[in-house]
Amino acid sequence: MTHGELPVLPGSPKIIPGPEKAMLKLSYGVHVVGSRSERGDLNAMLADWVMQVSFKPRLVCVAIENDARTLRFIRETGAFSVSLLHEKGGDQIARRVVMPSESKKIKGRPDEMQDLVYNKLDGMSYGIHDNGCPVLDEALGWFTCDLRETFAAGDHTLVIGEVTDGDVVREGEMLIERELGWEYAG
Ligand SMILES: Cc1cc2nc3c(=O)[nH]c(=O)nc-3n(C[C@H](O)[C@H](O)[C@H](O)COP(=O)(O)O)c2cc1C
Repeated sequence: MTHGELPVLPGSPKIIPGPEKAMLKLSYGVHVVGSRSERGDLNAMLADWVMQVSFKPRLVCVAIENDARTLRFIRETGAFSVSLLHEKGGDQIARRVVMPSESKKIKGRPDEMQDLVYNKLDGMSYGIHDNGCPVLDEALGWFTCDLRETFAAGDHTLVIGEVTDGDVVREGEMLIERELGWEYAG
């Protein structure tokens, strides 16, 4: 029997409820979702929640936070890319793209910084696919998608994309979340 509902005393270890513990055991690869706005701004977002969901047609699902700039861009242009981060060096790329591009999404930012937008791709090496979205040069591989459907799912939106192109460009394996050491689950 556990007493997870009782208040935690200062200094005592954090009690992680069972469902959260189980969710944290799920394994994910680490990806970068590339997108483009209608007026041509580019964006890159770190994402664990990417999976194939159909063979015919070849569909993938990406779960994206409702207030992410990436989601807005994908809705605007109907296209996105997914770069698979490499086990070697992928962590450095993850660090560069992990923050939201819009300062207003970061809790505690002072009012005068609310309108700031960071270009996470600045200084990174990437190409632009024919579908307009950025693909990272140092990825293990990549694929591009056309937006097919979106579904509301709590604080995220499920973005269903049909895979239009893709390739593996380096030897090796994907970076997985457990090795990156950051959690996006619970
Ligand atoms: C390890 C890790 C995995 C993440 N996976 C996702 C994800 O699958 N979906 C998502 O919406 N956000 C995910 N995030 C959070 C986004 O990367 C973050 O909110 C992002 O900066 C939003 O970017 P944008 O507002 O510039 O589009 C993850 C963060 C970390 C640290």
